[in-house]
Amino acid sequence: MIFIDACNRKQTPYTPIWMMRQAGRYLSEYREVRLKAGSFLDLCKNTELASKVTLQPIDILDCDAAILFSDILVVPLEMGMKLNFVKNEGPKFETCIRSEKDFSILQNNIGSKLSYVYDTISVIRSKLSKQKALIGFCGAPWTLATYMVEGEGSKTYANCKKMLYTNPKLLHNILQSVSNELKSYLESQIKAGVDSVMLFDSWAGALEPSSYFEFGFNYIIDISKYIKSKFPNIPIIVFPKGVGGYLHKFVDIKAYFDVFGVDWETSMAYAKEVLGDKYVLQGNLEPMRLYNENSMINGIDEIVSIMGKKEGHIFNLGHGMLPDLPRENAIKLVQLVKEKTKR
Ligand code: CP3
Repeated sequence: MIFIDACNRKQTPYTPIWMMRQAGRYLSEYREVRLKAGSFLDLCKNTELASKVTLQPIDILDCDAAILFSDILVVPLEMGMKLNFVKNEGPKFETCIRSEKDFSILQNNIGSKLSYVYDTISVIRSKLSKQKALIGFCGAPWTLATYMVEGEGSKTYANCKKMLYTNPKLLHNILQSVSNELKSYLESQIKAGVDSVMLFDSWAGALEPSSYFEFGFNYIIDISKYIKSKFPNIPIIVFPKGVGGYLHKFVDIKAYFDVFGVDWETSMAYAKEVLGDKYVLQGNLEPMRLYNENSMINGIDEIVSIMGKKEGHIFNLGHGMLPDLPRENAIKLVQLVKEKTKR
């Protein structure tokens, strides 16, 4: 598998590519299945349909890895927080965790309640070509905690950050309890057949560096250490979005992951200089460049000229693709990256 070879810094015939949110609303095939499934969560829980939409971008775009179709929020959902996806507003929990009493309602050892995810993984793996990797994932504890404390998406993360400074013990308790669930969740995903796992810390950039290490990245290290000790051959990808201002702080840590996801706000040249020897880098085309072919080509050329046609790089966007993206442009991106990085 080209993608797994690249994670292990082995030579590949070209730089492998996949895209965050590659299965989604910009594909009419996805919208059709989504309609059939009912709600977004119904789709996540429907093994047959979730495996179908996971495979769509492989057939349509020919990317080198499929990412499991699910959502990071199924973990707090199964810990007992009722969840709805409200059209045009995003996810909303019916309750939120703001006190010790709220925290006490969260359930532990929820692994078996997520069996629909593991079933989907085995179906996908049985249908996916052996050349293509399947990526499993979870949200990182900090990003999940922002949703659990706020009850929904947020611009300021005010409640969660207030908790961090006024009741850090409670926040650590939440983070620890989520981390425990994530360890066995990822473990079960690997046993079900994923070839690699990725931890999404989408809201890492909400914190100052010292707080991020204490409340965010330390939990990622702890989870990856656990997974590496049990599955040394499964590459781990981390994506702490918004930490480009202090990449040097990620050099001198004992890391248990293989690939560092670079967001679009960070210059790839800077990421390569600081982190390129230590981690394989994944990223980081600004997703908005896909709306104009020239902008897209210039963006690809810049990244390829920095990362070179050699090992140490996995091509991706610097964050997820948007629902109104013309699919032809996504198809073109995959073609161009393969052509332009051919060894
Ligand atoms: O293709 C893939 O990348 C795999 C599937 C995937 C989804 N969500 C599907 C999805 C993955 C890996 C995620 C992760 C996720 N979910 C993150 C971390 C990555 C990131 O984008 O930062 C976060 C923060 C979430 C939480 C979440 N889920 C939000 C904020 C939303 C609403 C977004 C929106 O644009 O409406 C979702 C819903 C969601 N997750 C959709 C998809 C395809 C859209 C739902 C729909 O079809 O109506």
